[in-house]
Amino acid sequence: MFKWITWAGWSVCLVNFVSVTAWAQDYDKVIEQMQLIRANQVEYSIALEEGKERSMLCGYCHGKDGNSVKPDIPNLAGQNTEYLLKQFQLFATGERQSYVMQQLARSLNDEEKINMSLYFSSQTVRPQEGITTSAKGKAKYGSLCVACHGADGRGDHELPRLAGQKKTFLIKTLTNFKKGKAARASSPMVNIMKVVNDDEIEPLADYIATMP
Ligand code: HEC
Ligand code: HEC
Repeated sequence: MFKWITWAGWSVCLVNFVSVTAWAQDYDKVIEQMQLIRANQVEYSIALEEGKERSMLCGYCHGKDGNSVKPDIPNLAGQNTEYLLKQFQLFATGERQSYVMQQLARSLNDEEKINMSLYFSSQTVRPQEGITTSAKGKAKYGSLCVACHGADGRGDHELPRLAGQKKTFLIKTLTNFKKGKAARASSPMVNIMKVVNDDEIEPLADYIATMP
């Protein structure tokens, strides 16, 4: 029995190791392919058209133009292409958990992922209106978040754009990072949120959601 458990444990480890390694290679390959398309005007405009068409289904939750229609679902408009592609990989391997997104990420091929990521990146995000920001949120952002997400909140490559993101999604996501929830437990954000107090989360979300 013990032997069996040990073997089962090892094979799970091995499977994980193999899939993580395969994932890293996959991801590099996909990024390279995307960069080639983005650098070629003709291929890029075809990709945008195809991405737009293929993403009809996403519109039900994320909005046709990537401005989400539900408060707890993230905007994809204006998001960095590399970040979007990386999330597909994380959903596909289960490193990031979300029932719907994991199923979707596993059913899309590389080309579809690339086209949709390019399409959503090219759209303009509409920052949230009707939110009052406080000095507290701005100060915390300036001291702790700027280094990675940038003073303008636009991130870079795999570092996500935060500017204009949905307030409710931000609060939910930051709270889950702080609790170290399994859904995104491998995220570097889990450690960062250890130095953010509970009462600083909403002011941060207010500040970020209204950033243009
Ligand atoms: C039924 C609703 C639903 C549909 C349809 C849907 N999504 Fe999502 N998506 C979500 C939710 C909910 C999340 C947030 C998961 C979480 O909390 O981490 C999400 C997250 C994402 C993220 C991560 C964004 C971020 O800021 O971290 C990407 C990328 C994404 N979706 C792409 C897509 C694409 C492309 C499609 C269409 C092929 C799609 N989604 C269809 C509900 C949906
Ligand atoms: C050391 C770099 C670093 C710092 C500092 C940092 N982040 Fe992040 N953040 C990341 C990375 C990398 C990701 C994307 C990977 C992931 O978490 O899934 C991310 C993801 C996020 C997300 C999820 C975005 C989405 O669309 O799903 C939010 C929200 C976020 N960060 C907010 C913040 C806030 C607020 C601060 C300051 C309190 C902060 N970050 C500081 C690196 C950083």
